[in-house]
Amino acid sequence: VKRVRTHHLREMKERGERFAMLTAYEQYAAQTFDEAGIEVLLVGDSASNNVYGNETSLPVTVDELIPLTRAVSRSVRRALVVGDLPFGSYQASPEQAYHTGVRFMKEGGAHCVKLEGGQEMVPQIEKMTTGGIPVMAHIGFTPQSEHSLGGYRVQGRGDTARRIIDDAKAVEAAGAFALVMEMVPGDVAAQVTKELAIPTIGIGAGVECDGQVLVWQDAFGLRTGRMAKFVKQYADVHGVLLKGAQDFAADVRAGTFPGPEHTF
Ligand code: KIV
Ligand code: NA
Repeated sequence: VKRVRTHHLREMKERGERFAMLTAYEQYAAQTFDEAGIEVLLVGDSASNNVYGNETSLPVTVDELIPLTRAVSRSVRRALVVGDLPFGSYQASPEQAYHTGVRFMKEGGAHCVKLEGGQEMVPQIEKMTTGGIPVMAHIGFTPQSEHSLGGYRVQGRGDTARRIIDDAKAVEAAGAFALVMEMVPGDVAAQVTKELAIPTIGIGAGVECDGQVLVWQDAFGLRTGRMAKFVKQYADVHGVLLKGAQDFAADVRAGTFPGPEHTF
């Protein structure tokens, strides 16, 4: 199988073909999504919530994400693996961003990295891309800035649409190879997608983006409880695991497992 490269995503955009991206944080999910033909796997800083049990993405560290990145990059044959730079690991300077990106690629085996921010991240994106680190940008609602943005809310409504378009053009000009847009009105995301040469990837940004991304624990129902409006649930992994665990416990209590066929 031929690996998905950053230029393939751009070529898909040019041909009008959409592509899919999911988060992955360990071996079996990564292998399964790779087998399913998912083009891009993101080792998201959402591992903070989905692996480490934090309430937000803010606490997770580079040292916590790199082992997960290594697990995913070792497990795929085709997918492009994106390491997500966590809060505080790149904002301070282009040099900080470069060093963190190098760690994700050398220690984690990431093929590229993602960072949050628009115009203000231009120096970081320029430094990294000229130094051999392909960068995926992320604008609109950016979870690491939750406390600056005043909570989880749609970005780019009304007069602020201009800001989204300017951010998108700035990260493209700085050298980003793709752009995630999170919680942006569908018409604004459509305009950005039309005006940019690089592919856009939406999460809560409508159907006109070139690709779509979801957190797998949300999309496949491992996490239960309140979901954002943009999540569609494709499977009930929680239900499958719950039933498996309950059936195992019941067999153990009843003395019906292990059977003779499981016994030496
Ligand atoms: O960390 C993450 O899961 C993300 C995606 C939702 C884009 O950044
Ligand atoms: Na993220």
